Amino acid sequence: MKTDREGARAPGSFCMARTPAGIDVPPGLFLTSYTGLTDKPRNDTPFLRHLLVHPAHPADMGALLTSFANLVFELGRRWRFTLASGRFGTLARDMAYSTTIRRRRRTRRIDRAGNPAAIGRWLLFVAGLVALMVVVGGITRLTESGLSIAYWKPVSGILPPLDAEAWQRTFAAYQATPEYRLVNRGMTLDEFKSIFWWEYVHRLLGRLIGLAYGFPLLVLWMRRRIPSGLKPRLLLIFLLGGAQGLLGWFMVKSGLVHEPQVSHYRLAAHLLLAILIFSLLLWTALDLLEPRHGSRQRRWRAMAMVLLLLVVVQIGLGALVAGLKAGYAFNTWPKMGEHWLPPELFALKPFWRNFFDNAIMVQFLHRLNAMLVAGWCLLIAVSTWRFEAPPRTIAAALALLLLIVGQIWLGIVTLVEGVPVAIAAAHQAGAVLVLALTLYFLHMNRRTAHHL
Ligand code: HEM
Repeated sequence: MKTDREGARAPGSFCMARTPAGIDVPPGLFLTSYTGLTDKPRNDTPFLRHLLVHPAHPADMGALLTSFANLVFELGRRWRFTLASGRFGTLARDMAYSTTIRRRRRTRRIDRAGNPAAIGRWLLFVAGLVALMVVVGGITRLTESGLSIAYWKPVSGILPPLDAEAWQRTFAAYQATPEYRLVNRGMTLDEFKSIFWWEYVHRLLGRLIGLAYGFPLLVLWMRRRIPSGLKPRLLLIFLLGGAQGLLGWFMVKSGLVHEPQVSHYRLAAHLLLAILIFSLLLWTALDLLEPRHGSRQRRWRAMAMVLLLLVVVQIGLGALVAGLKAGYAFNTWPKMGEHWLPPELFALKPFWRNFFDNAIMVQFLHRLNAMLVAGWCLLIAVSTWRFEAPPRTIAAALALLLLIVGQIWLGIVTLVEGVPVAIAAAHQAGAVLVLALTLYFLHMNRRTAHHL
């Protein structure tokens, strides 16, 4: 074949196309009929790449025959090579690869049975309801309403007291609790109603989320509309939702015995389980709504995972601060009172208890870890810019940095102002937003089959 300096064919010369397998085939013959592709090879068919030839005419029976001949030849060549060299690995790898391709095509075919985008939007909606639930839960705690309903009736409790007698019964149950005896003795029925409604709305929203998730899940399942690989995860989310209801009552119960205060461990567990359910819902929604998300870049994936860990630790510490009412002490910033390191940091014994039960240490850690979160996110933003990440990745990193700075500012105001309800509730909402954007950034940079 005559070519000029650049390897291009000389005009008007008759040329044979050479496959990567070194087979010369006459012009006009090519393989599209076999691969079903146009002239650009798809990168998920390495096994077939060797057989591609230069296209000359689309629907050429000769091309089909030639490609089939090539395929037989190629398979024969590989078997001979494998038998001769004993390197079954190469053939096995290629076979495995095409099996993966076949499996992926099959799942894609099944996925098409459902409507991934609609299911993704439904999951996003439920995630939004869970985020709202976290904030309503925070307001219920901040308004000291969490212990107002001294019983748990998952089904019949859906209705509030509808008449005076029913209100009297509910109020009487509350009057038997430590909170009424030790904190709200002499409270009137009307005053009781103001704390009752927050707890009632919190529990009602929990039931509504159960319905908004459980009912569509049941319908989709029965109509076989759930994308195949998602069933276990959607079932897990349902079970975790049920467990969250139980954990919520288990937490309330801890405040109905001696002290009118729920266990800060159970509060932290309740908040962290809510955060886990929210994350699973959001991640699954992103899987369905952003299937193209993914990156070959390990750097941002690894950094995003570290950030996610720091944010989850920060949320856990925040729950301990809230549960121990630590926000009502040391209402100064940046110092804690007169000190950078208050002397009471290690006041408790044994030593480990300081990190969970010592309100001063927990507040100190919440402040310190917030700076770690901000510093690490700054590092991510700078590295996305420095290493020329795709514009969407740079924008997401910058948005995350701004959100975290805003959340820190809200935290400082919550502390300095002595935990006003509205600001503290906004701080709680900000924490969920920081988590959501961190998950989104990680999802953008996730590893997928297409980005191996
Ligand atoms: C990335 C930064 C931060 C995140 C993600 C975060 C998250 C949280 C969360 C989830 C809570 C628990 C709310 C609850 O259970 O109701 C909380 C509580 C709290 N945070 Fe932060 N926080 C951050 C930074 C800060 C900073 C910098 C301060 C102050 C210097 C601060 C002060 C507080 C206070 C005082 C509370 C207790 C409020 C209450 O009793 O409800 N936070 N935080």
